[in-house]
Amino acid sequence: MELQNKIDSTFENRFGGHGTVYASAGRINLIGEHTDYNGGFVFPGAIDKVIMAEIRANGTEKVRVYSIDIDDYAEFGLNEADAPEQSWARYIFGVCREILKRGGKVEGFDAVFAGNVPLGAGLSSSAALESCFAFALNDMFNDNSIDKFELARIGQSTEHNYCGVNCGIMDQFASVFGKQDHLMRLDCRSMEFEYFPFNPSDHKLVLIDSRVKHELADSPYNKRRASCERVAKRLGIETLRDATKEMLDAVKTDITAEDYFRAKFVIEEKDRVLAVCQALTDGDYETVGRCMYETHDGLSKDYEVSCEELDFLNDVARECGVTGSRIMGGGFGGCTINLVKNDLLADFVETAKKRFNEKYGHEPKVYEVIISDGARKIADAK
Ligand code: GLA
Repeated sequence: MELQNKIDSTFENRFGGHGTVYASAGRINLIGEHTDYNGGFVFPGAIDKVIMAEIRANGTEKVRVYSIDIDDYAEFGLNEADAPEQSWARYIFGVCREILKRGGKVEGFDAVFAGNVPLGAGLSSSAALESCFAFALNDMFNDNSIDKFELARIGQSTEHNYCGVNCGIMDQFASVFGKQDHLMRLDCRSMEFEYFPFNPSDHKLVLIDSRVKHELADSPYNKRRASCERVAKRLGIETLRDATKEMLDAVKTDITAEDYFRAKFVIEEKDRVLAVCQALTDGDYETVGRCMYETHDGLSKDYEVSCEELDFLNDVARECGVTGSRIMGGGFGGCTINLVKNDLLADFVETAKKRFNEKYGHEPKVYEVIISDGARKIADAK
């Protein structure tokens, strides 16, 4: 309510009157990292941290937006030549353009937005922003005629075409489709998905944020994707979804060692997602946790998207007897996600904070994960 009040009063001061309020969520991913753009499986859920926006059509051809958190204002038209300078505004511009490209309607509007998704922590604040505006503009100008998968694709294309990140579909999918107390297993090839109830009584999910800044546009994320695509091409298949370890070993001498290890990780990771879903259904949290540690090792050693701080947090989790722990999201900084028994939680969090502080001179941030709803309307205009 605090966030909504802040947005509401800022909107009134800046533009007068009120608009409709929308929100969309950040996400976690229990397992299935860097599998989405390889046609594999992912297992994310939306969280209780959101980007929220108040929006109202303004009867002009201009979009006028104020970001409370950045304390910055942008104004732009809806033609391709009107792209704003500020990188934060390009997410909104991109969403408008992608709706228009698909034959949808967008007219000028005024908007104020803010959020509580930590930035650069690997919780997909950018997908939350894209999904919030895609959902809102669909509701305001298109009678909700754009289906939810297309809303997710609009966010993904915004990343590709306006923000320089060649990402998969996971983050935008999770932000749009998220459902309270449920994770979602998405098959990124067929786009079929299934909700899995997730509300364990004896475990909690907690994120430990290394505060190493995570910025995918500057990271070698796109290079990882290119490696995977090269190997798929060499194997004569569309994506690594169809590859096996045997197929990969058969071309080992024809590809670089780096590409080999990238593909090896992806092939192993896609099977782990299915193993974890089965284990969750069976209530077998030990297996879920073991797979999480395996993912961390793969992301660190084979995919090389970890960093010293995250490896350190992973080691601390192991030492504390945490059920499962791994780097989460695209990598190169951000959080570890930890599956922790309730009675270990307080000790683990204290130890992680203390040990990290001793080594790196600052405490990591800690977020308990609450699996929540995705994109939605919060309130009609007053
Ligand atoms: C980022 C991307 C996603 C996905 C993850 C890694 O969050 O936006 O599409 O590739 O990295 O799993």
